[in-house]
Amino acid sequence: MRRLGILTSGGDCPGVNAVIRGAVLGGDVAHGYEFLGFRDGWRGVLEDDVLPLPRTGVRGISRLGGTILGTSRTNPLAAGGIEAVRAGFQRNRLDGLIAIGGEGTLAAARELCTQGLNVLGVPKTIDNDLSATDYTFGFDTAVQTATEAIDRLRTTGESHHRCMIAEVMGRNAGWIALHSGMASGAHAILIPEHPVSIEQISAWVLSARDRGRAPLVVVAEAFAPEGRQAPYAPRGLDTFGRPRLGGIGLLLEEQLRERTGIETRATVLGHIQRGGEPTAFDRVLATRLGLAAVESAAAGRWGTMVALRGTDIVNVGLDAALGELKRVPEARYLEAAVLFG
Ligand code: F6P
Repeated sequence: MRRLGILTSGGDCPGVNAVIRGAVLGGDVAHGYEFLGFRDGWRGVLEDDVLPLPRTGVRGISRLGGTILGTSRTNPLAAGGIEAVRAGFQRNRLDGLIAIGGEGTLAAARELCTQGLNVLGVPKTIDNDLSATDYTFGFDTAVQTATEAIDRLRTTGESHHRCMIAEVMGRNAGWIALHSGMASGAHAILIPEHPVSIEQISAWVLSARDRGRAPLVVVAEAFAPEGRQAPYAPRGLDTFGRPRLGGIGLLLEEQLRERTGIETRATVLGHIQRGGEPTAFDRVLATRLGLAAVESAAAGRWGTMVALRGTDIVNVGLDAALGELKRVPEARYLEAAVLFG
């Protein structure tokens, strides 16, 4: 019987379980594949922390948040090296492996493929910043969660006549900020692609206040105000060597209060955006990606990832997929900015 491994690596994301279920059911029904799940990403491959994934093991999991396999940011290239991963493949008699992950995971998958290992990717990030796919699953859920939270900040802000700041995730791109800010009618949306000055932000806040509104600012964690060279990242690096972002909202709270004289409160939404049940849109997208991943494996399309183009699921080479991050185009920002202030 042919055997596929499956793992989830990097930050978790609502919809991961629907990918796993789609792959296992599709693989079982259409190709008679047997599946092994590796716990906590590449750590499971390196340490043989593995569980069998029969059809019954994925019953009813599409609607569950998190990942039933667990995840970690273990970088296989740093942790044990390619030969350790190869040995893991051999010990577990894998014909191939489906890696569900973001930019860091997919880059590792590409390197493993160039070294002759059968790996293919399923893109996963709430940030929606991978250029080869129109949407990543998890993004819709994160935007929905952020919008619900921002709606709540608005009502307390209005009661107290305060300026409210909501900081949302987005390591490289401001997609969550743009969408949740637009959905909640924010008076300013701040994203890394478009630096603006503290003077401009203050002007938007004052103009909203002068119209009798409680100003609402949505800021992406990677936003850097004009004049600041890098995003605010006071908490060191993660295991992929990337800065851990978070806290720009609190910095803005101080600065806006000083400049405008308006009582201001910032809330960092953080990991709340990654938790909980996926929306129906994300469940459908994730299930389709899981089904397509197993078709790619059956066809031997290693070194690729599955992606959404329009309404179709397609295959994209990992090289092309990782070439460039998908940032918010200027036109999309300017479209939203018409409503600021
Ligand atoms: O890449 C997804 C993401 O959610 C980013 O938006 C955020 O900066 C990062 O992961 C947080 O990672 P961790 O869970 O390691 O704190």
